Amino acid sequence: MTALDQYVTIQDCLQGRRCIITGSGGTIGRTFAEFIASCGGVPILVDVAPQPDTEAAVSAHGASYSAHQVDISDVGAIEAFYQDVDKEHGGVDLLINNAGLLSEVTLLDMTEDDWDRVLDVNAKGAVFMSQGAVRLMKDGEGDRQIVNIVSLAALVGGLYVGAPYVCSKAALLGLNRNYAVQAGRQYGIRVNSISPVIVSGQMISDTPSEAIDGVKDLMKVWKQEVPPIHLLYVFEMLCRTPSITGKNIVIDGGILLE
Ligand SMILES: NC(=O)c1ccc[n+]([C@@H]2O[C@H](COP(=O)([O-])OP(=O)(O)OC[C@H]3O[C@@H](n4cnc5c(N)ncnc54)[C@H](O)[C@@H]3O)[C@@H](O)[C@H]2O)c1
Repeated sequence: MTALDQYVTIQDCLQGRRCIITGSGGTIGRTFAEFIASCGGVPILVDVAPQPDTEAAVSAHGASYSAHQVDISDVGAIEAFYQDVDKEHGGVDLLINNAGLLSEVTLLDMTEDDWDRVLDVNAKGAVFMSQGAVRLMKDGEGDRQIVNIVSLAALVGGLYVGAPYVCSKAALLGLNRNYAVQAGRQYGIRVNSISPVIVSGQMISDTPSEAIDGVKDLMKVWKQEVPPIHLLYVFEMLCRTPSITGKNIVIDGGILLE
């Protein structure tokens, strides 16, 4: 018997596992969904909008999956969703809290609606999605995990983004720590987060190029947008290392070094 006898692949971890991905119609969510399908997992797709491209990508891997149109800012809709999941899948093994709205509103222009719109999805939505997941995961077997997609913005002043986004992501980091303790101690469920700097894709398509260039200038290495696949590599590490919980893995090209 050698240490390598304990070696597991990501396919070993995800095979047959029921994985909820919120915001699965967007750039990062679709990447996660396709990856999970390619590893033999069962993607449970959640987005406020229809997501034909993600369904096509997941189907191409021959995966068994389900797709749900849910507004995660509506707690009643989340409860109805989990009833459907329980009926259709009989439980959940992994939740990726990925759905999110960006806000670039400035300090003096911010309205109450700007605040509520973003906090309701990024913070409240993730909190109640996690609560529902823990209810279904707590009697499950094997490794069960929640992965929160946060942002470097939670750890710095926001660079170019507004207070609603920064505060919602900081709340998500609090959720990460709180649920890691509560769900970990009582039910053995792990909770971790990934905090990337700018990721190429739809979300930053309207962001002025000077703002993006300003962020790239702060990076010590890489100095470009992070491709979604880098989040997958971190996700893979988290799945394959069941002794890690309560951690926030930052993908920032070294911005936080100074
Ligand atoms: N793109 C970046 O630069 C970047 C950087 C750091 C963190 N993030 C985070 O990564 C996550 C995914 O970002 P992305 O780049 O794929 O964005 P995206 O805009 O491509 O996707 C976000 C998805 O969330 C969905 N969504 C929005 N409101 C919802 C609601 N009420 N209910 C359910 N779904 C809803 C959208 O329909 C969309 O499909 C977000 O949480 C974002 O904050 C992104």
